[in-house]
Amino acid sequence: MSFIKWQEGFLTGIPEVDAQHQRLIETLNTLHFLLKHGGSHEEILEILRFLDNYTVEHFGTEEDLMEKADGKFPKELRERHLREHRYFIDKVQEFHGVFDAYRNGEQEREAILKLFAFLSHWLCEHILKTDKETASYLR
Ligand SMILES: [Fe+2]
Repeated sequence: MSFIKWQEGFLTGIPEVDAQHQRLIETLNTLHFLLKHGGSHEEILEILRFLDNYTVEHFGTEEDLMEKADGKFPKELRERHLREHRYFIDKVQEFHGVFDAYRNGEQEREAILKLFAFLSHWLCEHILKTDKETASYLR
């Protein structure tokens, strides 16, 4: 588990999407900070709630762009992209449920560490592969 350093390699060339990605990474880094410095249950819950809403908003932006550009890029890519988004939303909700079930303690910490590792890994992979591949058809 580590802090995610923003890198040029994350840029898709679509300013709105890039700004949202930056915000998502900042959010994960805030979560990282809270875990490292013993953030309270309420503080962590607030970050999870923000993530729930912000991912829906962000994925909506990308999905609208794909819809507007329909015909410009492979159907397979669009379907795969939507599947990946749904998977992430499900995962965030699943972790949210796990988190709600615990109160401050070792179990909670373990669940959140898993959440952080999963979210970080997924987001970096998704941006570097699927979002960049999609952006190459949208720019
Ligand atoms: Fe995406």
